[in-house]
Amino acid sequence: MNQHDQQTPPRLPSAISLQQAAVVRSGRTIWSQGSFSIPTGSITAIVGTNGAGKTTLMQAELGLLPLSSGSISVLGQPAGKATQSIGYVPQSYTTEVDSNLSVEQSVLLGVNGTRFGLHRTSKTERAQAKQAMDFTGISDRAQVRLSELSGGLRQRVAIAQALASQPQLLMLDEPLANLDLASQRESVQVLARLNQELGMTIQVVAHDLNMLLPILDGAVYLLDGHPHYARIGDVLDGDLLTHLYGTQVEVVTTAQGQMFISPTHTVSQHSGHHVEQTDAIASSLAASSQENR
Ligand SMILES: Nc1ncnc2c1ncn2[C@@H]1O[C@H](COP(=O)(O)OP(=O)(O)O)[C@@H](O)[C@H]1O
Ligand SMILES: [Mg+2]
Repeated sequence: MNQHDQQTPPRLPSAISLQQAAVVRSGRTIWSQGSFSIPTGSITAIVGTNGAGKTTLMQAELGLLPLSSGSISVLGQPAGKATQSIGYVPQSYTTEVDSNLSVEQSVLLGVNGTRFGLHRTSKTERAQAKQAMDFTGISDRAQVRLSELSGGLRQRVAIAQALASQPQLLMLDEPLANLDLASQRESVQVLARLNQELGMTIQVVAHDLNMLLPILDGAVYLLDGHPHYARIGDVLDGDLLTHLYGTQVEVVTTAQGQMFISPTHTVSQHSGHHVEQTDAIASSLAASSQENR
């Protein structure tokens, strides 16, 4: 059977497409048989347990890691060729960046890359940086050093830096990790606006899907050594997520019709005290649904 016959072609050309892709690192297969397409203009999460190969997948899509077999195309070109059109926010950005840089200097790095410092910044470049800072709501802090910013604001600087080259595709590796709830929400809103207003295709690695659920079109989930893509409605399945997270979870729908993933509590303690949800979002959503009982 022809590979292309296995799924109906997406209406829009795909932004990222894997054909039987596999990656080997230090002699070990990290994942294999990756065959899926991510539609242009969509927001997709990459999910999987620690070490499942989420970062590896992004690096392979960026052409930073070779495949041991198969192929990956991104924005219609082989992985690694369309880098000008891709914005990337690596997992360790907020800890590794030089925190003596000002916000504007950091964002300018995204415009002129390694040439920074070796040439005078042009008006156009400054304007591009300004646009990216406006979009992420950090323009008023342009001259502030990164070391003086909260984690949430640093993360927005990271996003602004990735946006400064005006990419078609934005890839973020765990951008919500270590952020407080308000900062997570602000970052999610920035992603939603980039997608809606600029039509940007977004791929985002996340541990906790709940915060992103309202804006996700689909997810790549790394399960049993293989990456799979599914639309978000199909990912929100208790059995699948339980298998994926390696712990019992269920998909709960609130009275308002909002869905979230919640740990299943099998222990029913004596009444009068609700079992505490460890997940902050789950608990806030659960609270609002309980109010309606
Ligand atoms: N530079 C490397 N060399 C060899 N193996 C690596 C390297 N980086 C990561 N790995 C291995 O690849 C696997 C996937 O890592 P990674 O993609 O970082 O996972 P995730 O992002 O899902 O936590 C892990 O088992 C990790 O030990
Ligand atoms: Mg990772």
